[in-house]
Amino acid sequence: MSLRIEEASLSDLSRLFEIEKECFTKEAFTKEQISYLLTDHNNVSLTAKINDEIVGFIIGRIYVHEKPVVGHVLTIDVSLEHRRRGIGLKLLKAVENIFRKRNVAICYLEAREDNVAALNLYRKQGYRRVKKLKNYYGYVHGIRFKKVLT
Ligand SMILES: CC(C)(COP(=O)(O)OP(=O)(O)OC[C@H]1O[C@@H](n2cnc3c(N)ncnc32)[C@H](O)[C@@H]1OP(=O)(O)O)[C@@H](O)C(=O)NCCC(=O)NCCS
Repeated sequence: MSLRIEEASLSDLSRLFEIEKECFTKEAFTKEQISYLLTDHNNVSLTAKINDEIVGFIIGRIYVHEKPVVGHVLTIDVSLEHRRRGIGLKLLKAVENIFRKRNVAICYLEAREDNVAALNLYRKQGYRRVKKLKNYYGYVHGIRFKKVLT
């Protein structure tokens, strides 16, 4: 499998929205929200491609005015048929590398407390649980994770 990580652009919007709907039933970003996220220069948006087909993406945000500078992963999505092949991990590592280059010292992200795949992925990549977010996803609690980027 030859996987490429590339910067996302607005021309990817339809495919990203397709994957977003595949990944999330209730908490999916709308197409308009994804479009907005792709165009904000404080965001880092990356796609994972196999043979020119987008199979996953990640969007992170940098809070440049915080001291130290903070990064936040807003969403990480891998299409169903390409899961469990290391793509999510590669996307997360790639966004962290860009965060580091842009002086991000701490990275945060969240997941539903029942999202076993995401919780395991974050732990595997060195994130530590810092907070329970009560009813963050309606009736389901969220967990906030943190990693110090060195
Ligand atoms: C979470 C998600 C991005 C993981 O992507 P992925 O490409 O399948 O993950 P990877 O193959 O890189 O897995 C890396 C590690 O994460 C953990 N993991 C991934 N999927 C898992 C699953 N279904 N069950 C348990 N652990 C899992 C494992 O520790 C795995 O390492 P291993 O395969 O060596 O055991 C993917 O499941 C997804 O898109 N889910 C829907 C969207 C979502 O929930 N995003 C996160 C919240 S924003």
